[in-house]
Amino acid sequence: MSLHRLRSITIGVPSVEAVRGFYRDFGLDETVPGRFETADGGEQLRLAEAPRRQLLALAIGVDDADDLGRVAAALARLGVAVAQDPRSLRAVEPVTGIGVELVIEPRVAQKPAPRAATNVPGETLRFDARSPAVAPAVSKPRRLQHVVVTSSDPAASRRFFTDGIGFQVSDEIPAFGASFMRCSTDHHNVLVQPGPFSFLHHTAWEMDDIDAVGRAAAAMVAADASRHVWGLGRHAIGSNYFWYLRDPAGNFAEYSSDLDVINDAEAWKVAASMPAHGLAAWAPPVPREFLAPDDIAALARGEK
Ligand SMILES: [Fe+2]
Repeated sequence: MSLHRLRSITIGVPSVEAVRGFYRDFGLDETVPGRFETADGGEQLRLAEAPRRQLLALAIGVDDADDLGRVAAALARLGVAVAQDPRSLRAVEPVTGIGVELVIEPRVAQKPAPRAATNVPGETLRFDARSPAVAPAVSKPRRLQHVVVTSSDPAASRRFFTDGIGFQVSDEIPAFGASFMRCSTDHHNVLVQPGPFSFLHHTAWEMDDIDAVGRAAAAMVAADASRHVWGLGRHAIGSNYFWYLRDPAGNFAEYSSDLDVINDAEAWKVAASMPAHGLAAWAPPVPREFLAPDDIAALARGEK
């Protein structure tokens, strides 16, 4: 059958203790210290001690043993070592060192959230009542959606994910060397872009709608204004609403909503965008640190 979801990630940080509270505030449920669940996706985030912040591992849900066999053969053709048991397969992406695990598991079915009635010119769906969007409410991430990592050889990392694991490319920015790749119907689950070394640019978490993005991010920033990075906006590639925050280790975490979905690879036309056009259809001006996180120069010198 096929790959069907980005199942979970493990983020390495110098101090788990310093970062746990951020992800609790972000809306994830900490079941045991350093391990977090989403509303729909089960345990999807682990924090682990590491010399510097980085994505240590990601796991992908697959349908059956045929998927494991096909991926094992494809990775062997790329010369990548594989460890396999009847239910899972593990390999390491050679350039970034990210551990990739494939696990046989059932597909996750999400129930839609109640949709608030909205008014637009010529169509009044809500009248004689205030919008529920302005009522006090807590918005929590429904599931992990994507990760963005840098690679010193993005073409080789892309080959690992596409030719080896079986991701499909949804869009790309050839002049920049960035590839938006999916292992589900999400427009992208892994985005690899060039960097001086491998670091985690951001994780993204699916919210119910634009109000949930705004409500959750505003609460995060109200509690600590230094968390704000960039938002509210709408990406051009992937079409999702976004608001980015920064965890205490320097990783960005994105609230995301209304990402493009690709059911039919033949119907979707892969676009090769120019760098300036990919970032946002509309948003506040992109901050410099989104393009070059403040700690990268120090991390490149080997400092924490
Ligand atoms: Fe993103």
